[in-house]
Amino acid sequence: MNKTEDIKNLSKQRISAHSHIKGLGLNDDGSISNVSCGLIGQETARQAAGVVVELIKMKKMAGRAILMVGPPGSGKTAIALAISQELGNQIPFCPMVAGEVFSAEVKKTEILMENFRRAIGLRIKEVKEVYEGEVCEITPVEMDNQLGGYGKQIHHVVLGLKTTKGSKSLKLDPSIYENLQKQRVEIGDVIYVEVNSGSLKRLGRSDAYATEFDIEADEYVPIPKGDVYKKKTVIQDITLHDLDSANANPQGGQDVLSMMSQLLKPKKTEITEKLRKEVNKRVNTLLNQGTAELITGVLFIDEVHMLDIECFTFLSKALESEIAPIVILASNRGNCLVRGTDDLIAPHGIPLDFIDRTLIIHTPSYKTTDIYQILKIRAGVEGIEIEEEALQHLATLGAESTLRYAVQLLNPASQLAKAYHNSAINMTILKEVSELFSDAKQSSKILTNDNGYME
Ligand SMILES: Nc1ncnc2c1ncn2[C@@H]1O[C@H](COP(=O)(O)OP(=O)(O)OP(=O)(O)O)[C@@H](O)[C@H]1O
Ligand SMILES: [Mg+2]
Repeated sequence: MNKTEDIKNLSKQRISAHSHIKGLGLNDDGSISNVSCGLIGQETARQAAGVVVELIKMKKMAGRAILMVGPPGSGKTAIALAISQELGNQIPFCPMVAGEVFSAEVKKTEILMENFRRAIGLRIKEVKEVYEGEVCEITPVEMDNQLGGYGKQIHHVVLGLKTTKGSKSLKLDPSIYENLQKQRVEIGDVIYVEVNSGSLKRLGRSDAYATEFDIEADEYVPIPKGDVYKKKTVIQDITLHDLDSANANPQGGQDVLSMMSQLLKPKKTEITEKLRKEVNKRVNTLLNQGTAELITGVLFIDEVHMLDIECFTFLSKALESEIAPIVILASNRGNCLVRGTDDLIAPHGIPLDFIDRTLIIHTPSYKTTDIYQILKIRAGVEGIEIEEEALQHLATLGAESTLRYAVQLLNPASQLAKAYHNSAINMTILKEVSELFSDAKQSSKILTNDNGYME
């Protein structure tokens, strides 16, 4: 077995609930494609989602909300994820669960605001003067410490850069030496250094070194053409939230990398409304100058019935503001109380005037045949063998309770099969497991019949 296969096997071990979903599975004309993408059935909802994806790509959806409703386990979260996959990584997608807003430290609306801004991207195009090339020399030049202390100080660093046309030796500030070390730049890497700010970016490993043995999957790039000194259009993708937190805690350079390093230690309470306004102002100037382009992303709020009336008021207002992402909401509740009110019952726990602003996509419960297909895919993804008869029985179990219950039985059943030295799950094993683990309905039945529980 060679190395790449090894790595593939490793990555296969990490399986999440939705790892079999690869996209919406639609043809170019929006009809359901026969090619498998992990999603089964739910045709109407998928087609509707396809339309939404097109609208988002055409930038015709800004400031709108989509509401996905359906019973538990009917694929709402799965379809929302498929939407994000269809959008690709050019568009920011920020998923959250409504319950996240209830934190002891930060205000509810503050968390919503933060996620709103995570879902709006800014593509900044700048023409920069840079030195670019393959690194052929890094020599720090030391000198004695001027304060007379022990040890040496770095006075400057000599950086040799090579292109197809020639090479150049640069004498640079010691801070750049630090940057080189931080980004682990080595001889043979392709980098560029901005002339004005001195910030530095590693683009990858030079092609010329592609044959060397390397366990890390490094990106190989060709040796740059032209002169070492050149004007280069640099495109940076960031979200408004990145800008906010970088400005709330300004240290180091203003390049994306130093902003990223700050994200690791965000101080939530520090971003104020005033700062956001300042950031917006600056963003607007960039937009007007044409140096930046606003990219409307998607904010996905799962289990939206958990939000309370205050959050909905905030959302309505935020949706109408000048820069707003597309909001996708999902809920599995029927009519229920709107949180934060005493007696306001509304569909999905969402106030009616808010529902009015949404496009609703419905995901009905699955038929047994669909459940059968989904279970088959899941078993495949998880590498679980199951006999045909047992699979069909599991599908009927799923139809009686929920799809998720059936999906969740796969793993314990496969464990039991192993314990009995069976290569596949059979009927006996399945029956035993479904008796061991009850679904929600059975569980609530036990509660109503049995008085042994604490009241
Ligand atoms: N159409 C489908 N095709 C393939 N897999 C599906 C499909 N629908 C759902 N699944 C899978 O079934 C499981 C449950 O679906 P999902 O989590 O999307 O349900 P949900 O509607 O979000 O439920 P809830 O309301 O409880 O959040 C997941 O593992 C999901 O990937
Ligand atoms: Mg869900």
